[in-house]
Amino acid sequence: MRFFVDTADVAAIAELNDLGMVDGVTTNPSLILKSGRDILEVTKEICAIVSGPVSAEVVALRADDMIAEGRKLAAIAPNIAVKVPLTWDGLKTCKVLTGEGFMVNVTLCFSANQALLAAKAGATFISPFIGRLDDINLDGLEVISDIRQIYDNYGFETQILAASVRSANHVTQCALIGADVVTAPPAVIKAMASHVLTDKGLEQFMKDWAKTGQKIL
Ligand code: E4P
Repeated sequence: MRFFVDTADVAAIAELNDLGMVDGVTTNPSLILKSGRDILEVTKEICAIVSGPVSAEVVALRADDMIAEGRKLAAIAPNIAVKVPLTWDGLKTCKVLTGEGFMVNVTLCFSANQALLAAKAGATFISPFIGRLDDINLDGLEVISDIRQIYDNYGFETQILAASVRSANHVTQCALIGADVVTAPPAVIKAMASHVLTDKGLEQFMKDWAKTGQKIL
């Protein structure tokens, strides 16, 4: 399973990338706001660090404007995936930009039918939002599972990029379902390393080691 990191925080991306944990990056307008950086500058910096796909999102609402923005974002680096919303205009934009050879990530997907349309429009990635579905008492993981089955039934090559991931358990469940990629905030990726029994075991080992009076170095 590939891990994308869901942030525009360059230091956090670099830290995880050095550990081999980053196969790509996703950003969105809210994450750009949080970074306090200029979208073109920060995206260029991220693309220089990470060799995998880096999603940069358009903000126009009409297809013609989205296409123009997408082309500008794609010119930043060869590993840009243009992120477009799952609207009718976003699907039109997806079709045009993938036809021009660009990677396109269709975002703000909340249903299997939306994912089916994105695949038909040639999307490279579909981003179903798990956490935001869970927030309104729907089952985000069930949507991932439905999309997996539909794409497999018909051999669609669009990759399922599970998004709005809020917990380490979401990552486990996405891996079990067979999502192609998970994008998660740095804190969620780090939380995957934690286990209460690891902490407890280490504490005991440290106590016993101190009693030996030995040193390794
Ligand atoms: C995905 O591409 C989005 O940037 C992100 O996963 C949304 O996550 P949120 O619902 O936690 O904001």
